[in-house]
Amino acid sequence: MKIKEISAYLTEEQVNGRIREMGEEISRIYGDEAVCLICILKGSVFFTCELAKRITSPVELEFMSVSSYGAGVTSSGVVRIVQDLGSSIENRNVLVVEDIIDSGRTLSYLLENLKTRKPKSLRLCTLLDKPDRRVVDVAVDFVGFEIPDRFVVGYGLDYDQRYRNLPYIGFAEIED
Ligand code: IMP
Ligand code: MG
Repeated sequence: MKIKEISAYLTEEQVNGRIREMGEEISRIYGDEAVCLICILKGSVFFTCELAKRITSPVELEFMSVSSYGAGVTSSGVVRIVQDLGSSIENRNVLVVEDIIDSGRTLSYLLENLKTRKPKSLRLCTLLDKPDRRVVDVAVDFVGFEIPDRFVVGYGLDYDQRYRNLPYIGFAEIED
């Protein structure tokens, strides 16, 4: 399978504008307290960088890599920690930064795992949310855009590891 066409959906200006608002909202929640952003690799890299710049509370960055999808577009339901955090999150304010919530399987697994490490607080933010696709319930604290049930690429989101570097978000039409 490969991509036949990508049609523009959210422009770089729209995405960055919304991230700026999210940064303000997040800063109001944490105030002067430090927040540890956990960037879920690789899709959230672009979002995390832009968001971190818009948060005025003290920010610490951590990275974690989980895999739930193979090379295609359908969720396998199998979640695996490929790369774990480099430091303890015990007693820290943790904000998980995700690119997109689809079935919710990745996040529900991840949040359960992180809870056992006793953070002071644990919240979740996502750039994109596809509520129609939800299989497992997850409580999301900050959502950038609710989007329809279409496959999207760009701004960190990939199709078979490609298109992450598109500065905008587009709908991908996949050829079979
Ligand atoms: P979930 O476990 O089904 O919620 O899947 C979340 C992960 O699936 C995301 O972190 C993405 O890597 C991937 N994913 C879900 N939908 C899309 C999409 O439309 N484009 C690109 N990746 C997606
Ligand atoms: Mg992916």
